[in-house]
Amino acid sequence: MIAQENVSLKPYNTFGVEAHTRYFADVQTLADLDTILTWYRSQPNLPLLILGGGSNLLFTQDWPGLVLKLSLLEKPVVVEVGDEVLVKSSAGENWHDFVLYTLSQGYYGLENLSLIPGSVGASPLQNIGAYGVEIKDVFQQLEALNIQTGELKVFTAQECAFGYRDSVFKNAEKGKWIVVFVTFKLSKMPAVKIEYGTIKSVLEAHNITSPTPLQVSQAVTAIRQAKLPDPKTLGSAGSFFKNPIITKAALEKLKKEHPEIPNFAVSDSHFKVPAGWLIEKGGWKGKTFGTFGVHKDQALVLVNYGGATGLEIWELAKNIMQSVSDRFSIELAAEVNVI
Ligand code: EPU
Repeated sequence: MIAQENVSLKPYNTFGVEAHTRYFADVQTLADLDTILTWYRSQPNLPLLILGGGSNLLFTQDWPGLVLKLSLLEKPVVVEVGDEVLVKSSAGENWHDFVLYTLSQGYYGLENLSLIPGSVGASPLQNIGAYGVEIKDVFQQLEALNIQTGELKVFTAQECAFGYRDSVFKNAEKGKWIVVFVTFKLSKMPAVKIEYGTIKSVLEAHNITSPTPLQVSQAVTAIRQAKLPDPKTLGSAGSFFKNPIITKAALEKLKKEHPEIPNFAVSDSHFKVPAGWLIEKGGWKGKTFGTFGVHKDQALVLVNYGGATGLEIWELAKNIMQSVSDRFSIELAAEVNVI
């Protein structure tokens, strides 16, 4: 396996923005990965970027180094212990296909995470979450390759230090590892979670009161399809910003002017408020600037209607951050990786 030179990254990012990388390799096997990393280590000062599904980043410039697209695909390994099932997946597996595979096997726990774009290998990096479930709730362990030494190491949930859209791989261990396998702890006993958002009402509209995990997956899929753009037809990277966490005092102050502000306690003293609500209040929802804009159904999502540059989208994001800061004194942070 040898790296290709001067490759367009447009097909490899769900925003669909143009950017080129100096070197590119689509890695299909562990042997390929080993070969390309050996070459990479011989190149002085070459920046490395690992790509999974490309669904959580925005390129604002060309990449001066090597991009490794991780397409590692091997059949999942399953170990059943009573009602518990450990399912080990390769990093390159498409996340939603993996969710559907587990459901088809009668292994439950991932249903609320249906239709999240991206790959299995990227899922623990930002502890993906939706509809009241996060990866950390069903995570057993992952195996990652050390980029510099080639060492294969097992990381437990504790070692991953999961937080809200966060893990050790975005902090102390950033840029040091390539996740190659992730093992999930699922169950053969359904234990559906339908309290979050509109899952329950969507099911009830279909006269479903005791849903199966597959029905929950279908409801989540329908909700996401109604609110979030399909990256295949409209460029985006899902939520562009994280939901900010503010103090109780700050929330009380906000509530004086906006008693209706949605909020979720994360501790006795801190509350998460939806960035989508703050952005919508600022009048940004549905705003279009020619080739890019703010999604009409979910203000947390920025979209590329076709032909926008990453820089234009990043400028819009910065304007939104400034406007939320001016109006609410809340600093939004990007959830996507801005390059
Ligand atoms: N809201 C608005 N206006 C908007 C969007 C939302 O007022 O334009 C309000 C809603 O009315 C609701 C609240 O904000 O009261 C929460 O909205 P929603 O349930 O749509 O979820 P979110 O907080 O905007 C988060 C995740 C999503 C995930 C959903 C569902 C983050 C950054 N985003 O969005 O994740 O699908 O919850 O669990 O935590 C992603 O990470 O890419 C992503 C799509």
